[in-house]
Amino acid sequence: MKVDVAILGAGAAGLMCAMTAAYRGRSVLVLDHANKPGKKILMSGGGRCNFTNLGVTPAQYLSANPHFAKSALARYTPADFIAMVERHRIAYHEKELGQLFCNESSKQIVRMLLDECAAAGARVETSCGVEQVRHGEEGFAVLTARGVVHAKSLVVATGGLSIPSMGATGFAYELARQFGHQVLPTRAGLVPLTLSGKHQEHYQDLAGLALPMAEARVGKRSFRAGMLFTHRGISGPAILQISSYWQPGDDLRIDFSPDEDAAAWLIGQREARPAGELRNVLGDLLPRRLAQRLCERWLGNRPMRQWQPHELRALGEQLHDWPIVASGTEGYRTAEVTLGGVDTDGISSSTMQSKQVPGLFFIGEAVDVTGWLGGYNFQWAWASGHAAGEAA
Ligand code: FDA
Repeated sequence: MKVDVAILGAGAAGLMCAMTAAYRGRSVLVLDHANKPGKKILMSGGGRCNFTNLGVTPAQYLSANPHFAKSALARYTPADFIAMVERHRIAYHEKELGQLFCNESSKQIVRMLLDECAAAGARVETSCGVEQVRHGEEGFAVLTARGVVHAKSLVVATGGLSIPSMGATGFAYELARQFGHQVLPTRAGLVPLTLSGKHQEHYQDLAGLALPMAEARVGKRSFRAGMLFTHRGISGPAILQISSYWQPGDDLRIDFSPDEDAAAWLIGQREARPAGELRNVLGDLLPRRLAQRLCERWLGNRPMRQWQPHELRALGEQLHDWPIVASGTEGYRTAEVTLGGVDTDGISSSTMQSKQVPGLFFIGEAVDVTGWLGGYNFQWAWASGHAAGEAA
């Protein structure tokens, strides 16, 4: 079979690229080894797909080249995607911080992308493994379980390594290396952190306890959002966000009370409740079980009147800068994204085309561009898919 554009991967980026290229009159075939397209879209946002973020800027992306994402993000914006969502009459809402979710189901986003592909004339084939890719003067030959596909352009949209049980593979990296591209080291991002040894024992029985608001910090980077203790360590949005910036050995600090000056509050409580024990009083500032644990293990427990103001001030400062020693992450098994990947140095930022192999494109999560939690990763998939679809 011969097509203008063969796209490997029927995920977010691949489907966007397919419709864009097909609307330009290109013959397009999308191949995916999974049994259905868009599996990660289906499971995203708790089944409601956080499909974009109103506040997208290049600053919310991690990459060895922080400028790389600018061009594609500027040319396909959240407003462009929202316009398509509205054309398909998919109801959505803003949850918080500009995050847009479907009111009903992620299935609507997959349906919309497939309907657009069908309207544009792009074919999508699932359960079709790709065995090998060859490149010659005529273009690309993609060897699949169902035969050979010849294509003038080849778009690699097979994503990253996160959630292997959903069909994630390192195929994009293999292909990149095959064609002489550098692949930067990959690691799990937007992922729960694990604790071990005594650090785990300190918090283990707090599993399930949630702080509605905490601030997680590594160096100068910080995120303010909810936090959760788990059986293996810590999670929740603030931790997932900081996990993309944390590496083993880094000093992780938690502000347990980011919205209230803990020292001033404690000094006030000393006046108001002099006979109250610290662990009970602190239970009005922090979740009760956490307050008790901090007092049992580290802070001590006396009636408030027995604490000197300077001691309470120091204690308050500790609550704003609490060290938690993480040993690692839960890894690709639960990570939302893969950091690192195909080096942007070898790719054009306006078209996503390989600088060394004309007609070869890399898009989506496979590329070394990773967004924060909150719809930023899909926006990168849409924008990079659109950029390649305009050029392929
Ligand atoms: P994606 O992974 O979507 O697609 C890759 C496709 O390639 C898959 O269909 C796969 O089967 C196929 N493939 C892989 N190897 C292949 C091979 N060898 N041969 C053929 N096909 C192959 N982001 C966001 O912005 N908002 C959100 O709400 C969420 N929520 C979320 C929840 C969970 C649980 C996860 C794991 C991830 C998210 N994300 C997210 C991240 C988001 O899902 C991710 O960034 C995009 O799906 C990346 O799009 P891609 O198209 O690059 O890869």
